[in-house]
Formats: sequence, C-alpha cells, structure tokens
Amino acid sequence: MAFSSLVRLTLSIALISSFVFDVICFTPPPRFAQTSALIGNKIYYMGGVVPLPEPIISDFFYLDTSILSSTDSTTLPWTELTGLDNLFTSWGTAVAGGANKDLFVLFGGNMTPAENSSLVIVYDTSSNTWSKPTISAPQGEPARKIKTQAVVDSTGKMYIFGGSTSPDLDNSLVNDMSILDTVNWSWSTGTQNGAPDARSDYSATILNNGVIVYIGGSNLNNRYVPMSQINTYDTNSATWANIVSTGDIPSPRGGHSAVLTPDGRIIIYGGAFSISADGQYTAATPDMAVLDTTNNNFVWSQPKAGGTAPPQVAYHSASLVGDYMVVSFGNITNKGPSPNVYVLDTKDSYNWVTSMNTNTSETNSSSNVGLIVGVSVGCIVALILLGGGLFWFYRRRKVTEEVIETPGEFTDAGFTRRYESMNSATTSQNSHDFSKHLTSANAESDPSKEFHPSYSHNFPVQHDPEVEDDDKEFRILPQELQPEYLEKKFNNNDNI
Ligand SMILES: *[C@@H]1O[C@H](CO)[C@@H](O)[C@H](O)[C@H]1NC(C)=O
Ligand SMILES: *[C@@H]1O[C@H](CO)[C@@H](O)[C@H](O)[C@H]1NC(C)=O
Ligand SMILES: *[C@@H]1O[C@H](CO)[C@@H](O)[C@H](O)[C@H]1NC(C)=O
Ligand SMILES: *[C@@H]1O[C@H](CO)[C@@H](O)[C@H](O)[C@H]1NC(C)=O
Repeated sequence: MAFSSLVRLTLSIALISSFVFDVICFTPPPRFAQTSALIGNKIYYMGGVVPLPEPIISDFFYLDTSILSSTDSTTLPWTELTGLDNLFTSWGTAVAGGANKDLFVLFGGNMTPAENSSLVIVYDTSSNTWSKPTISAPQGEPARKIKTQAVVDSTGKMYIFGGSTSPDLDNSLVNDMSILDTVNWSWSTGTQNGAPDARSDYSATILNNGVIVYIGGSNLNNRYVPMSQINTYDTNSATWANIVSTGDIPSPRGGHSAVLTPDGRIIIYGGAFSISADGQYTAATPDMAVLDTTNNNFVWSQPKAGGTAPPQVAYHSASLVGDYMVVSFGNITNKGPSPNVYVLDTKDSYNWVTSMNTNTSETNSSSNVGLIVGVSVGCIVALILLGGGLFWFYRRRKVTEEVIETPGEFTDAGFTRRYESMNSATTSQNSHDFSKHLTSANAESDPSKEFHPSYSHNFPVQHDPEVEDDDKEFRILPQELQPEYLEKKFNNNDNI
C-alpha cells in the first residue's frame, strides 16, 4: 500500500512536472503556415497548422533573439502570451506596423471560430493588448486571403498582393494589391496595371528604396513562376515592373522565405513544389539562393553554406536579426511539421550556426548564457517547489483524510467524479489502475482522492468513448499531454 501511494505520488509529480514544463517552460509544438513578424528583437508567432486531425492550438508567443545563444528548441527563450478570443489562425500574414513599428498586424488567413474572427487583428507589443481595429474602406474592404506575404513600408503601409481567397486554390487565386495604412487605419487599392498573374506562395521583400520584389510562388494549376521572372511594385510611384534576372537561377518553388540584408542581398530559403495532382511536394533546389539587388539588374547566385544545413522546410518563418537569418518551424518536405529553429550567419560567408553572437551594445555572450541558464533554473526551481508542495499536501491529507464513498458514475463532468468512478470496484479492471488493489481492501487509505482539489476545476476531462479505459490515469492531463494526443502529434502528418 505504501508502495502504491509512492507510485501514485511519483506519478503525480511526473505529470505535474510535464505540465509545468509545457506551461512555464513553454516549448511551442511543431507547426507550419504560422504567421510571424519580427518586432524589435522579438519574433512573434501565432497559430499555424499542427499535426492533428483538428487544429487545437491558437497559441501566441515570441522568441527573444537578443538572448538567443543556442538554437536547441528546448532551451530557447520562448515566451507565451495570451491569444485573442480563442481564435485559431493559420496561413495569414503579419508585419510590424503602426507609427512605432511595435504592432503585430495580422491580416487574413484561416481564422476560426468565425464569430470571433476579424479581417485584421492587432497586438500592441508595448501595451500587451489585442484589438480588432476599425478600418475605413472608401474603396471597399479586400477579401480574406490566404497564402500571401505582406510587407510594410517606412510609413507603416502594409502591402498585400495576390494570394487565394478560399482554400480551393485553383479557383480563387487573385492578383490585386490591397494596401492597409497601419497608422491611420484605412484600406486602399494598388494598381492592377502591369500586375503579374494571380499567384500564391510567393515571397515578398521590400527594398530600402521602397520597391517590393516578388519572387516565385505558383499560378493556377500548380504552374510555378520561373525564378528568373522578378516582379516589382514601386510603392513610391505605384507602378508594377518586370525584371528578368540573370546569373545562376534556382529552381521554382512556393512556400519559401526571403530576407533582405543591409547591403541589398535577398536571401531566399526553402520552399517546395508539387508537379502532380497527388499533393506530394518535392524540395526545391538549392535550399538557399541569393539575389543581388544592388545594381539595377538583379543577379542570382547559389553560394554553398557551411555548417550543417537543416532539413529543408516550406511554409516556415524567416527573419533577419543583425547578420543572422533565423528560420523557424515549417513543413519538412516529406516529413511534416518542424519544431526547430535554425540560424544562418549571412555576414562574411554563409554558415549554419548553432548559436548567435548578438554582440550589440552592452550585451555580450556571457550575459546571454546567463539569461538562458536563468530561464532553465527558474523552471527547475518551479518544479522542485511543486514537487515539495505536493509531497507536503499529500502528507497532510493522509493525516486528516476523511473518506466519503460515492457510487461510481461514468461522466465527463469533471475530474472528481471521474476519478471516483475509476476507483469504484465496478470500473477498476486493469493493471494500470493502481487503485484497484486498494479500493475493496481498504478504502480509508485510498490515496486517489487526495488530488481532487488541484485538478478538478483546472482540466475538464474530454471523454473519448473510442479510447480504452486503461489510460484513465493519464487522461486527467490537459489535452496536450494526453498519450493519444502525443501519439497523433508525432505520427499523423497528413493534416494540412
Ligand atoms: C469568442 O470570444 C469570446 C470573448 O473572448 C469568448 O468568450 C468566446 O468563447 C469566443 N467564442 C468561441 C466560440 O470560442
Ligand atoms: C495619418 O494621418 C495624419 C494626420 O491626418 C497624417 O499627417 C499622416 O501623414 C497620415 N499617415 C499616413 C501613414 O498616412
Ligand atoms: C506538409 O508535409 C506533409 C508531409 O510531407 C505533406 O504530406 C503535406 O502535403 C505538406 N503540406 C504542405 C502544405 O506543404
Ligand atoms: C563582443 O563583445 C566583446 C566585449 O564587449 C568585444 O571584445 C568583442 O570584440 C565583440 N565581438 C564581436 C564579434 O563584435
């Protein structure tokens, strides 16, 4: 009996520990098609497609790149924030908007539940508040779009070209240019004159002279745009132009990323293409290519990056932080969603590195390490406190416990009743149920009731009639930690 209690206590500590790791020591699950934007030194992320039959997350978090000294995703300085109205979002696009470039401005994408969705949602990173801004639209509001890539100019205007107005890509690709003023909150429309064909999954990069460079992506029927064909939109003159680039031209692709270096190189990374109707994707080659925009003719090159190249992703995020290109998440071609962050040093030669030397101003690498160690130590301290607290609680309850027998009743109303039902003689039927050995023999010392208060109101239990009852022990966990969730998470990759 003492042994069973010990097992139960240990199990509880283990379960709570994993909960703490998940919530306090936040590590975001793998995903692709998330929306992201670099604001200051922080990359903000929202939602994305996760490997489950149904999307269940709408998390919102940031990665503080100023203390990024290792790219091991379990020790990265992630910080979870609160999302908006239970919204689940994927395939949207976001920029750093507002007069101070401190707003996370998210346009479009798939957004559910519909009752709470909004064409534009805004997170103010200074006041940590969400809003759904009222936007004037003298020429009408644009349609909700997915698979676009917005850019923002120095005055806070967000340019959203093309994309798809419904998940049915073949019938819904568009080539209009919607412009959102993120300072004065108004919509306007760019010219269609000279605009390229309708397309999605391209990359967009705004140069310092205000010219937006559109690269790659796909037109109707999976026809990919040749990478030699560069389309530009000049935000000063509101005109489209075609540029035929030269040099070592990479293969066509969609879902790639593009970042601009201070000296005028556009580095594209990743992406994939699909030539068959079966939806199979092939990684585009090479994974990385560079378009030099410094002279008026655009020239491609395909430098080989040193270090260990990451598995090739599409529909990932990429931001340039200092001299480093930070690549995060994405769909690993033929494998599925990635949880990882990779860093390419773009300064002298191209090198995949495992840590960043963010040596700007006062911060040096030793203080960076200190901060990360601080985060981990914080987690460990939280765990020890929790474990200790639980042990104390357990001991105390054991002394003062008074048992009230309740008839077993199988219900989802909450943990309390559920736990009682699993401990009643009629439903205890397998070896995983530690209480089996206790209930009939000696109900008074049944330790199972001791954890009611900490759980009953925290996690509503989802009862899935398909799942055998032998995992009841674990099903008091939040959904993210349930074995069947984790199994699906790592095995089921065919959700889009
Ligand atoms: C919509 O948002 C409100 C306010 O945050 C929230 O209470 C409600 O649950 C949301 N609706 C759904 C269906 O999640
Ligand atoms: C916003 O409005 C103010 C005042 O009406 C104006 O001075 C400013 O130029 C506008 N900003 C943008 C980006 O249009
Ligand atoms: C994501 O990757 C999976 C596994 O390779 C693949 O089946 C799926 O089509 C991909 N989805 C997209 C949108 O690239
Ligand atoms: C980093 O900072 C240290 C101390 O401030 C300085 O000595 C060193 O040169 C810097 N390294 C780089 C690469 O800037």
